[in-house]
Amino acid sequence: MTLSKDELEAHWMPFTGNRQFKNDPRIITGANGAYYTDAKGRQVFDGLSGLWTCGAGHGREEIVNAVSSQVANLDYSPGFQFGHELSFKLANKVVELTPKGLDYVFFTDSGSETIDTALKIARGYWCNRGQADKTKFIGRIKGYHGVNYGGVGVGGIEFNRTLFGQTVEADHIPHTLLEENRYCRGMPDYGAHLADKLEELIVLHDASSIAAVIVEPLSGTAGVLPPPRGYLHRLREICTEHDILLIFDEVITGFGRMGAMTGAGEFRVTPDIMTLAKQITNGTVPLGAVVVGAKIYNTYMENGGPDYMVEFPHGYTYSAHPVACAAAIAALDILVNDNLVDKVKQMAPIFEDAVHSLKGRPFVTDIRNYGLAAGISLGHYPGEPARRPFELGLKCFEKGFYIRWGGDTIQLAPPFIVNTDQINGLINAVGESLDELS
Ligand SMILES: Cc1ncc(COP(=O)(O)O)c(C=O)c1O
Repeated sequence: MTLSKDELEAHWMPFTGNRQFKNDPRIITGANGAYYTDAKGRQVFDGLSGLWTCGAGHGREEIVNAVSSQVANLDYSPGFQFGHELSFKLANKVVELTPKGLDYVFFTDSGSETIDTALKIARGYWCNRGQADKTKFIGRIKGYHGVNYGGVGVGGIEFNRTLFGQTVEADHIPHTLLEENRYCRGMPDYGAHLADKLEELIVLHDASSIAAVIVEPLSGTAGVLPPPRGYLHRLREICTEHDILLIFDEVITGFGRMGAMTGAGEFRVTPDIMTLAKQITNGTVPLGAVVVGAKIYNTYMENGGPDYMVEFPHGYTYSAHPVACAAAIAALDILVNDNLVDKVKQMAPIFEDAVHSLKGRPFVTDIRNYGLAAGISLGHYPGEPARRPFELGLKCFEKGFYIRWGGDTIQLAPPFIVNTDQINGLINAVGESLDELS
């Protein structure tokens, strides 16, 4: 460890207990394949693929080469009123890999920006269609949609909202974490009826005031909640019936994690708007994408005024950054050429068996999984739901395994290139760490 305690002070770290970290820093110095190297020179298995970002593994040469030659050739290009070829190529690739009917791509720099962009697209869409009163959003309790202003409002994780208040006009349908479904493998059979709660909110607010419903097809941050069978179909039906846009936040589920290119593809429900980030560049360079259908894009074009006018007054200095586009094209090529989606499908049953073998270990109260994603709920210390997962995460790290803890859960999401031994190693480390908890 080369950083002194003083040198650790200035950086106010995100989603981190800064005081604890600065007393006991966990510094990563390198990454290759499915492993990190830490400041002590140890190899640490990447049990969450970064932050659900690096499914293809770290240090992929194809991405390294694409990024370095892009920086050398065109390090930046103004994104407003001028273009560069890679963003168009990438948009076509994204359209190819997402469900039919989603044909236009707006680039951002992160998941959070992607959500706020999607919410603005939805409101602007209705305004352009002469229904400017359709401004409200319906999210879901336990939903996580990033940390920007709109995303916090439609999100349903209390921890992210208590300090900031209700940032946008939003209401929430119930979450789908049900007692009846404890230890369910994959999609629960029970719970589709919860989609009908949307009908109740529509009665309460009236469809004429609701712009969009936003959900993650599978909630990741809440601790991996696969959708009950039929639930997403029902949401789709209700939205269509009441002329409300349906947004799928696929920042985690997009590009492979579910054993399909998208959650929409896997669960066979197509939204009106899809948000993507994380895996799109294999985590190497920040990039997000909002994908919409022609009816939305064309509405903006038809209402844009003279053709030199901006149809959608929105965009970031770094939207479609050439280096991010180069990284994304290389990352998506790897995903396709290495058949990583099939690899996830093959490994998913092995991962499922391994993770469910933790049932009965101390403090485990529920286990859920889908594709290469799993969440484990832990019993609380009195009044301290987040403490035990934190302690477990630290114990795993001591053993050379990085996992994510959040709320009263831990989350596991190994890289798509994981093998059976590595899965067993990860699950053994979690099991032993559980046994050591008090
Ligand atoms: C479903 C979902 N939406 C949005 C976000 C926010 O993405 P970012 O952290 O890149 O802003 C996340 C991040 O974990 C996410 O899981």
